[in-house]
Amino acid sequence: MKILITGVLGQLGTALQPALAGHDLAGIDLPEVDITEREGLFTAVSRHNPDLIIHTAAYTDVNGCALNPELAYKVNGLGTQNVALACREFGAEMVHISTNEVFAGDRPDGYEEWMPLNPCNPYGRSKAAAEFHVRSLLSRYYIVRLSWLYAPGGRNFIHAILSRARKTGQLRVVVDEVANPTYVKDLAAAIANLITTRQYGTYHLSNSGACSRWEFANEILRQAGLKNVTNTPILSKEFKRPSTPPPYAALHNIAGTAIGITLRPWPEALANYMEKYVKREV
Ligand SMILES: NC(=O)c1ccc[n+]([C@@H]2O[C@H](COP(=O)([O-])OP(=O)(O)OC[C@H]3O[C@@H](n4cnc5c(N)ncnc54)[C@H](OP(=O)(O)O)[C@@H]3O)[C@@H](O)[C@H]2O)c1
Repeated sequence: MKILITGVLGQLGTALQPALAGHDLAGIDLPEVDITEREGLFTAVSRHNPDLIIHTAAYTDVNGCALNPELAYKVNGLGTQNVALACREFGAEMVHISTNEVFAGDRPDGYEEWMPLNPCNPYGRSKAAAEFHVRSLLSRYYIVRLSWLYAPGGRNFIHAILSRARKTGQLRVVVDEVANPTYVKDLAAAIANLITTRQYGTYHLSNSGACSRWEFANEILRQAGLKNVTNTPILSKEFKRPSTPPPYAALHNIAGTAIGITLRPWPEALANYMEKYVKREV
């Protein structure tokens, strides 16, 4: 299949390349192609003439989105509308990458794929707008939601926790934010599997099981062999940021499981990542 990846230099865009080996791959990203500029995007898409576009490009800085909601909509809303229009114009299928932040996060039980969207911050609103555009413009699409993505080399939660723990021996981590940590390698493999099914629709492809940020940090410390670190649970109201995340926005994978696409439990995926990319204390 001829596949074009938007945001090819980002965390997921990078991981998709080995996962999709065997396909005819091409990628676009800033500064050459800006998805908010329709004409340049259409030129790039017509040059590659893909059967499928995997749209990972986004303004992913949630705090930046909170400070500049217009830019959040421009990149995530309008940008995705342009990608969907390009798919329609050039006859390509689309994979659109979305987030658990399209949900309000007020359901301690978590969310199934078809539950109503009700985002509680500008990033979530811009990503909900993106989903709306994909659904209204296309019929051959997959929307893939995920949460708490981590990747090698990324400035991610795992490395932030380890670096602070090693420097200070003390952590304060929020206990009232719950979601699914997701290893980018597992997500990329699941997407590579999904696109062969033609079972178009909406999917939750995070590693299975959910935890709070505090529990995630405890597991990182345990797996890294860091024993003498104090990890104090705090409430998000004690940790002020420009963006307010949804408190309980765990994703349940019902639609993917029904067609045989599941991701392993998050502690197992974390162990695999840590083995490869994190030095264990002895
Ligand atoms: N990271 C997470 O925890 C998480 C959680 C849930 C959902 N998601 C979703 O998953 C997808 C992939 O996330 P990621 O972590 O791989 O993102 P990422 O590492 O931030 O990569 C996004 C890429 O898109 C590019 N981009 C930004 N604005 C653009 C524009 N106007 N035109 C073209 N390209 C543009 C970025 O370029 P620059 O770096 O130059 O800006 C970057 O290369 C996103 O749709 C995100 O919303 C992520």
